[in-house]
Amino acid sequence: MYILGIESSCDDTSAAVITDGGLLLSNVIASQSVHEEYGGVVPELASRAHQQNIVPVVDAAIRRAGIDRRDLSAIAFTRGPGLIGSLLVGTSFAKGLSLGLRIPMVDVNHLHAHVLAHFIRENADDEVPQFPYLCMLVSGGNSQLIMVRGPRDMEIIGRTIDDAAGEAFDKCAKVMGLPYPGGPHIDRLAAEGNPDAFRFARPRIQGLDYSFSGLKTSFLYTLRDNLRTDPDFIEHHRADLAASLQSAIVGILMNKLEKAVDATGVTTVAIGGGVSANNGVRQAVADMCARRGIKAFIPERRFTTDNAAMVAIAGYFKYRDSDFCPYSAVPYARVEC
Ligand code: KG4
Repeated sequence: MYILGIESSCDDTSAAVITDGGLLLSNVIASQSVHEEYGGVVPELASRAHQQNIVPVVDAAIRRAGIDRRDLSAIAFTRGPGLIGSLLVGTSFAKGLSLGLRIPMVDVNHLHAHVLAHFIRENADDEVPQFPYLCMLVSGGNSQLIMVRGPRDMEIIGRTIDDAAGEAFDKCAKVMGLPYPGGPHIDRLAAEGNPDAFRFARPRIQGLDYSFSGLKTSFLYTLRDNLRTDPDFIEHHRADLAASLQSAIVGILMNKLEKAVDATGVTTVAIGGGVSANNGVRQAVADMCARRGIKAFIPERRFTTDNAAMVAIAGYFKYRDSDFCPYSAVPYARVEC
């Protein structure tokens, strides 16, 4: 069995091949630098870049897997959520290849793919999570707490009511004059700063839901107020601002994650999505799990951001159930996990 995964939901064109047991044979990613000068992803440019990249990326993934395209058993593709123009490229390509090779197509929810990234095995003896587990999915567009009872049985038990954690990183980084996406820059600067130098507002939201808009406003006001007396305030306090911001975001995330662990009684916690690459988040989750004597699954950094290996593994679980996708399928921009 060989599953080809195709990911084109935002600004990364990726293709991967997995075989039995979720063993990864190849994972090729073409990232798009064209957006950097615009301070965010430009949908039109993303679609065009996917059109340019998709044939060579898929070809490289099949070659690196050491197989022929006629060996493929199925094609898994990201159907949503994401940018429609970008998704259309991957979806249409998957349809064409599936028709040409006369093999089934499997549609994948991008968020499920992030949650299931922990089942990618690079070696046959790699450990994977036992069900049920709790996944904190934190990306540029989502912040969710998901109870994962099986590969196809997930329930969202907490979600953001406004911004996602990644947006909080990126928007605050932007007002500091850092390039897009700002999350990795904040992470790097935070390593040299004092996390207690500034204190920003924390949300008071009941239950397991997140909120980041108050923190963002509080960060903005701190800059505005201090820039009045020191026009070089940001320059003078870059590392401390980054460290304090990161500490606040990590604090908000961990507060709800710990509540969710208490509420569900799970013995395994996993994280996923772009923000799970953050050093502060990774350390805090590892520490919390060690303190409670529960298992932590923290993905390799290359599986935190968008990649087709996670799409292939999510597709593999549907393929096993013969849950195939009709050729009439259209991508969707929005959906929850
Ligand atoms: O999952 P992802 O690649 O894209 C989607 O949202 O679909 O996540 C991207 C987000 C961006 O907001 C980016 O700033 C954030 O992940 N990110 C980070 C780090 N690496 C990526 N945020 C904080 N620290 C990082 N090291």
